[in-house]
Amino acid sequence: MRMRHKPWANDFLAENADIAISDPAQYKGRWNTVFGNDNPIHIEVGTGKGQFISGMAKQNPDINYIGIELFKSVIVTAVQKVKDSGAHNVRLLNIDAETLNDVFERGEIKRVYLNFSDPWPKNRHEKRRLTFKAFLKKYEEVMGETGEIHFKTDNRGLFEYSLKSFSEYGLLLKEVSLDLHNSDPKGNIMTEYEEKFSALGQPIYRAEVEWRTKDRL
Ligand SMILES: C[S@@+](CC[C@H](N)C(=O)[O-])C[C@H]1O[C@@H](n2cnc3c(N)ncnc32)[C@H](O)[C@@H]1O
Repeated sequence: MRMRHKPWANDFLAENADIAISDPAQYKGRWNTVFGNDNPIHIEVGTGKGQFISGMAKQNPDINYIGIELFKSVIVTAVQKVKDSGAHNVRLLNIDAETLNDVFERGEIKRVYLNFSDPWPKNRHEKRRLTFKAFLKKYEEVMGETGEIHFKTDNRGLFEYSLKSFSEYGLLLKEVSLDLHNSDPKGNIMTEYEEKFSALGQPIYRAEVEWRTKDRL
């Protein structure tokens, strides 16, 4: 992702504090009060510029969405997209996924989306991949007894690695597609990266895995 320094980003995020939540740890265990309802909460880790999360929020008004993005210079575009979409069921957090457990209580999240996560192809960077076992543990901690991860990527190496990582962690594989756009992608909302790579003719890989902690004990 190409990043430009945006000196106005702090002011912009402060002006849009209804969408871009500052100090999110204060809401741990009570995100329902932020949304004003008890609808299920789904998070997207590595939201980027926000096309997916704003599209999902419009498509599914009875789900609450929280997008997590490391870079301020990127999340500002997502904030603008959420504003433009008029969706009221999205919040965005400018945090590192490493800190998920400071922000969400066990069981507070029902689904995690990972879209076109950075592949980190070198072995020595394995720990940075968002499907590395330490991240799966974090997702498990915020989802509690049951939950799901929905994963899309154009990167075959990352996909193969992730299927193995999911399986070694004991997750149940519910769906796998090796060419999402030529299977049955009903309701699929494309991300910015997905549009870019599929326009180049690259297949999009997708997996849905499920969590049932009891089955793993
Ligand atoms: C390749 S981009 C994909 C963006 C978007 N999901 C898409 O499909 O268009 C990956 C995004 O994940 C973000 N990211 C990577 N590691 C992260 C982390 N540990 N916590 C939060 N965001 C992260 C990056 O800053 C980047 O915006």
